[in-house]
Amino acid sequence: MTPINREEIQSQLRNQIIGQKILAFGDIRSTNEYAKRLARSGEPEGCLVIAEHQTRGKGRLNRFWYSPGGQGLWFSIILRPDIEIKKSSLFALLAAVSVSQAIETVTTLKTELKWPNDILVHGKKMCGILIESDLTREKLDFLVMGIGINVSQKKKDFDHNLRNRATSLFIETKYSPNRIKLLIAVLHSLESYYEKLKSGQVAEILDSWLLKCRHREKPIIIHQGHYECEGIFEGVDEYGRMVLRTSDGNTQIVASGEVFTDLNLTA
Ligand code: BTN
Repeated sequence: MTPINREEIQSQLRNQIIGQKILAFGDIRSTNEYAKRLARSGEPEGCLVIAEHQTRGKGRLNRFWYSPGGQGLWFSIILRPDIEIKKSSLFALLAAVSVSQAIETVTTLKTELKWPNDILVHGKKMCGILIESDLTREKLDFLVMGIGINVSQKKKDFDHNLRNRATSLFIETKYSPNRIKLLIAVLHSLESYYEKLKSGQVAEILDSWLLKCRHREKPIIIHQGHYECEGIFEGVDEYGRMVLRTSDGNTQIVASGEVFTDLNLTA
């Protein structure tokens, strides 16, 4: 696979914000950890940190994220939106719709979304998103958006725990798209949705997300640590939180957790 090259990304990118600065690595522990360190030392928004291989790729809920060398897109972006802290959970949905749109532009695949930010193809996870943020005096200081897209892994490359739950572009299409082309499509899409969010057009992001939601109006179980509840997934509110209809007919708002459905036990 052609190595990721900073100049090549720069020459194709037409963004004003995202990717204004690009740091490309061979090996790194985690692009999210690196980007957070940069952000804490004052790096402006838009900086993209990308690596061929992550030795300690980080997933949601402190899980390990499998990031083999040259087989995917593993990257993080620093953002400094001037928004209420409450709205920061919208970034998970924003990232998911952007990546989903990019995958559908570059391939013929149909993607589905699982709340809050997993991208599935044929019920298996192709992309994971990890948003981390720092707050200073009740204000959002920065947010790091970490995105991992499985590109060219074969089924046998995933260990037995992942094999039935994860997939890659190669597994689904039998070819590996040019990673730079896919990355550029993701970065363009992210910038356009980011502009929408900043100008208050949140409904567009929520509508695009709901259109692709795999479990809309379906029964789900939601795990939050030791707590578990179930109901019908009705949709998302203006902050991207889940609206759940429980069996007693009440509506519950859920801000975080992990969704399980009878269709798909992807975690
Ligand atoms: C998930 O658990 O679904 C989120 C996975 C996020 C993985 C990406 S890969 C690039 C960035 N750096 C990390 O260490 N994690 C994120």
